[in-house]
Amino acid sequence: MPSVPKPDQATANHALRLMLRERSIMSALVAFHRGTGDVFRLSLPGFSPIIVASPDANRFVLVTAKDNFAWRTEGDPVAQLLGHGMLVEDGAVHDDARALANPLLHKRAIGGYLATMSALTDRAIAGWADEAVLDMAVEMRRITLNIVMKTLFEVDFAPEIARLWNPLLRLLRFISPGWWMVLPGIPQPGVARARALFDEYLYRIIRARREMPQGEDLLGVLVRTPGLRDEQVRDQVMTMIVAGHDTIAALLSWAVYVLSQRQDIQAQARDEVRAVLGDAAPDMAALGKLTYLGCVVDETLRLYPPAHLGNRRVVEPTNFNGYAFEAGERLGYSIYLSHRHPEFWDAPEDFKPERFLESHEAFSFVPFGGGERTCIGMNYALYEAKVVLARLLQKVDLLPVPGAVRQSMMVTLQPKARGGGAFVRVQCR
Ligand code: HEM
Repeated sequence: MPSVPKPDQATANHALRLMLRERSIMSALVAFHRGTGDVFRLSLPGFSPIIVASPDANRFVLVTAKDNFAWRTEGDPVAQLLGHGMLVEDGAVHDDARALANPLLHKRAIGGYLATMSALTDRAIAGWADEAVLDMAVEMRRITLNIVMKTLFEVDFAPEIARLWNPLLRLLRFISPGWWMVLPGIPQPGVARARALFDEYLYRIIRARREMPQGEDLLGVLVRTPGLRDEQVRDQVMTMIVAGHDTIAALLSWAVYVLSQRQDIQAQARDEVRAVLGDAAPDMAALGKLTYLGCVVDETLRLYPPAHLGNRRVVEPTNFNGYAFEAGERLGYSIYLSHRHPEFWDAPEDFKPERFLESHEAFSFVPFGGGERTCIGMNYALYEAKVVLARLLQKVDLLPVPGAVRQSMMVTLQPKARGGGAFVRVQCR
């Protein structure tokens, strides 16, 4: 059986040139994919994961052969940070945690979060000066953090956000791709302190909740679950904070940046929002009518998927399309490469929201994964993204700011400009 191919020298040289030009590892991945095919091996010293990137491969990993792959790799930074959180667990621990959180992320529950999502977006916009140049990566992170903390845990995060901002960013950097992949055990300055500060806060809100009426939100559900200790509650809460804000913040930063660059798309989206909502805050029914805005969100998720790679560990010897995967190997299904696959997307590099008015090949668009472990926060994220964008379009014009923005491969795919993330000028309407 053929072994998984590595990019040849010509492909590797081309990838290096692209990477230097675009200043992004993502360009190198595109070159590897185009030059080597839908299954290839990255070979770094001591770290050589298999990467797969096609609708077939996504279906295989997510559905057909899902039991041959595990999520948890003991010792990985993400497993260290999230402990036994549902994102990094398999089997019963995962299933129990998912069952507890599911009702709080169901469409029925989300209807109850919309007013909070609007109000917290409005609060952020109210603090913006007319003509200000803002780093939308910062603004969107602030909004999404406040929203996740209030909707799922009934806490006002505003008084804590300044103090916990840098610790949180440090922890997100810790779980992003980095030198630890080739130099396991490399010192991680600042991580222990950041974690101590964040955990102190988490245990504080958990203990406070144990002492008051417990409420119907996720924190209430977790603390009254028999047998769930504070450490286990902490792991699920940390998982939801990380997965429930960093992804949506990335999506919104990219969307706002693209809207600032594409006035035609911004105008069309605003016309729709005005026609459906006027000045009103959106409810469930109105959000369902924002079809074009939904296409803008989908197209942003396609070109800039926040979760760019799904990580797995092969647990059973596996054969995919004639290639052998050995037990113990790491494998990633590349959401980013699937979304730019030239066989399944016409002009894949172009931002064309209207392509989502047509259907697409199953498993070619997997921003939320697929199968039994599809993102539990998918609906929450899609509604939140529409609420925040609708409020922005109602209240401000988004204008371009010169300067390149590159794609930075952190735990999510983040925009990076000189001195920040994605700068946009806002004009109050
Ligand atoms: C735009 C926003 C989001 C994107 C792009 C996204 C993407 C994803 C993807 C791709 C997966 C599957 C990963 C894999 O197969 O390896 C996933 C799983 C997960 N997501 Fe999201 N997510 C988003 C928002 C959220 C939100 C808002 C929450 C929680 C409030 C959340 C919580 C989770 C959890 C807990 C899992 C693990 C589910 C399981 O294994 O059963 N995500 N997400």
